[in-house]
Amino acid sequence: MRFTVWIYLFAICGLTPPLLGGVVQETMDIMQTINHVTKTILKAWDMIEDVPLAEITAGSLIYSRQNQLLDKMSEVNANILELEEQQVRNMDLTIKALRDVWEKTELLYRISRLNDLTTLINLRYNQLSDFEQHRDTLEPITLLKFTQWNVDPSPNSLSTQLEQLHASLYGSGPFAAEQDYSQTLIARLTESFQASPEHMCVAKQSAQQFAFKVFAKTALTELKAYFMMEFSWMVQRQMGRGNFTQELLLMRQNHRKRQDAALEILRQLMGKTGRRYWRCDPAKDRHVEGETFARVTRLLQGYVENEINLNSDQSCWNSCDDYHDTLSNGCYQPEEDLCGQQPPCNGRLYNCAFIDSALTICPASENGTRRYEYIHYGDGTSLGGKSAGCKSKEKEAASWSRWVVMRCHYCFCLCDEPGPKSDRYFNLRASMSDFMRNRIVTGVRFVKSRRVFHLQLQQAQLVPWGAINTSTLEWLPLDDYNVSDADIRNDYDYHTLGPDSRSLDLDEIVANATDQVVTGVRFRIINKHLNLEVRFTPFNFSTGLLVEPQTMSFWLGNNNSHVDGKRQKLVLKEADLPTASEMPSLPLSQTNQYMDFVSSSRQKDVAQNTLPFIDIQEVVPHPAVPLSGLGIFHKGRSGYGGFFAPKVVTYDLAKHLTEPRK
Ligand SMILES: *[C@@H]1O[C@H](CO)[C@@H](O)[C@H](O)[C@H]1NC(C)=O
Ligand SMILES: *[C@@H]1O[C@H](CO)[C@@H](O)[C@H](O)[C@H]1NC(C)=O
Ligand SMILES: *[C@@H]1O[C@H](CO)[C@@H](O)[C@H](O)[C@H]1NC(C)=O
Ligand SMILES: *[C@@H]1O[C@H](CO)[C@@H](O)[C@H](O)[C@H]1NC(C)=O
Ligand SMILES: *[C@@H]1O[C@H](CO)[C@@H](O)[C@H](O)[C@H]1NC(C)=O
Ligand SMILES: *[C@@H]1O[C@H](CO)[C@@H](O)[C@H](O)[C@H]1NC(C)=O
Ligand SMILES: *[C@@H]1O[C@H](CO)[C@@H](O)[C@H](O)[C@H]1NC(C)=O
Repeated sequence: MRFTVWIYLFAICGLTPPLLGGVVQETMDIMQTINHVTKTILKAWDMIEDVPLAEITAGSLIYSRQNQLLDKMSEVNANILELEEQQVRNMDLTIKALRDVWEKTELLYRISRLNDLTTLINLRYNQLSDFEQHRDTLEPITLLKFTQWNVDPSPNSLSTQLEQLHASLYGSGPFAAEQDYSQTLIARLTESFQASPEHMCVAKQSAQQFAFKVFAKTALTELKAYFMMEFSWMVQRQMGRGNFTQELLLMRQNHRKRQDAALEILRQLMGKTGRRYWRCDPAKDRHVEGETFARVTRLLQGYVENEINLNSDQSCWNSCDDYHDTLSNGCYQPEEDLCGQQPPCNGRLYNCAFIDSALTICPASENGTRRYEYIHYGDGTSLGGKSAGCKSKEKEAASWSRWVVMRCHYCFCLCDEPGPKSDRYFNLRASMSDFMRNRIVTGVRFVKSRRVFHLQLQQAQLVPWGAINTSTLEWLPLDDYNVSDADIRNDYDYHTLGPDSRSLDLDEIVANATDQVVTGVRFRIINKHLNLEVRFTPFNFSTGLLVEPQTMSFWLGNNNSHVDGKRQKLVLKEADLPTASEMPSLPLSQTNQYMDFVSSSRQKDVAQNTLPFIDIQEVVPHPAVPLSGLGIFHKGRSGYGGFFAPKVVTYDLAKHLTEPRK
């Protein structure tokens, strides 16, 4: 009978949880601790009930019994404290960080109330721990008084505080499945968390992880209070104050009701809460190339050339607009012409257009990937920064006439120049976690290495109950190479972006079964598009072991293509550099879309850059969790080119809250 009433949380998992002391455990670990504490309490009762009442009341045993109880107490305490240290500190930091965001809302008041009650219970609990430490000199009457206060049905008693704590987070009263929980504090906090990416960025976790954390923090406090009450009844009975059978029953019933309500709300809440995690932009002036973003370079870049060099006849009979796809044909007048004074475009020229008959051009420094800083027209308008003076020497270029009748204008074209200054490669090799050693993927980031973009994976050991052994977290070494090496092949080892092969498919690949986690990632080419594929491996939740990873793993991708009309194109028009935006990027793409790499705005940047940029910040939820999906998306602001960035979908813990209860 005892075993059926309140080992509620234990039943959720349905199995004896192994105690993984020492390892930093996250996620479902609170469940394990609750189970373990509950079991320890039960054992303590056995100890008392084995002793005949007569012996207890005889008094001689009181000291030794008290010590035995306090031994149990310290065992429980060690468990609770360990978990608390690891997990709750994390949560407190989150709450602290989010305080600013919640400022001026009534949420902050409600959080304070919750914190006050938590503090009160913790104080009591610490007091009990002190007793335990000074057990040898402790008068039995002290303990008796303390425990009496705990179970007293007065308005200031522990049991009242516990009720209030619970009510402050989950609302009061019994919870019916169809009841509206949307006004409870936990739901409001989660809703507010979901409402703006700012929260996710500060807390570095998905909304579902956040909801669970809020639950876990309070569950731990409730557990402490509950444990103190059990302990108090034990002491009361042991000291011969009575049996308290009915009181215990009531107390346990209430405890169970609260747990039911909390879990039911959590279950419903987590079922509706997002599991996506991605990285916000760094602050406006904190974008650092090579640290927070990387660029594809010189894919299609603004380039000025005289018409006479755009055709093999060295004529100027056409107009700039007639040259859609051509080559530069040397330099007609190397001495006095612009073409002799600028590095040539060693590639094809596209989409030429006339801009003005008199130009002042500021060449960029030799080093970088730009060709020009700005171009001024004769009429005073300009392309690119109208800004501070030119660091190098400005160059003039004006239309001229040949044979009087032929006017030779300067055209503005897009130069596609593969070569040492053009980083335009994407790795096509698969990257997989070390699944034979039970490692799974816990994070991802883009890396540009030896001019090739890779998706690099973070891996860690999966352990029981959806937890990660955080001491094993590591980034997988890059499988990198030099594209010019003899045995490295285009469209096999890597993909080369070009004018007609520069699309990236934007997808989120998620396993739809609950027992699968991400163990790998790769790009493939579908209709010349870069297309993401994610590898999944089944695992056993209670053992934390991957199930036959060699044979049961599979790759999943989105086969929809623009050819069959199922994939929609997102277009960037006249976009400025994303690093120039005052406002942080927001996700702008959806799954089943794609976007091309394009040149930046002619007007704002002389089309010198390739957009979007690529966000290379690591996408790693804290605490580490298994992932059930991974994707590539585009984030930005209208008018700016934005970034391509990876995102992850955290493992759905809600599924395990709803497993059949025993
Ligand atoms: C206390 O409980 C025991 C068994 O649990 C029972 O035998 C005994 O009669 C009870 N005593 C009182 C005073 O209720
Ligand atoms: C050229 O690049 C080097 C190293 O990358 C840097 O130290 C130097 O300042 C650059 N020069 C100019 C003119 O930008
Ligand atoms: C790649 O190899 C070429 C020739 O072997 C070399 O010149 C170049 O520096 C290498 N590039 C990188 C990024 O290692
Ligand atoms: C966690 O990783 C550490 C270091 O690799 C290892 O010693 C420990 O046994 C692991 N814990 C579990 C539960 O596997
Ligand atoms: C995933 O969902 C699709 C349809 O949405 C279904 O056909 C397929 O069987 C599901 N796969 C698994 C492993 O559940
Ligand atoms: C997980 O492993 C345990 C222990 O080996 C086994 O009893 C259980 O059936 C497994 N669960 C599933 C879903 O395979
Ligand atoms: C997607 O295409 C690949 C390769 O053509 C094929 O193996 C796979 O079965 C396809 N997947 C779906 C869901 O159609």
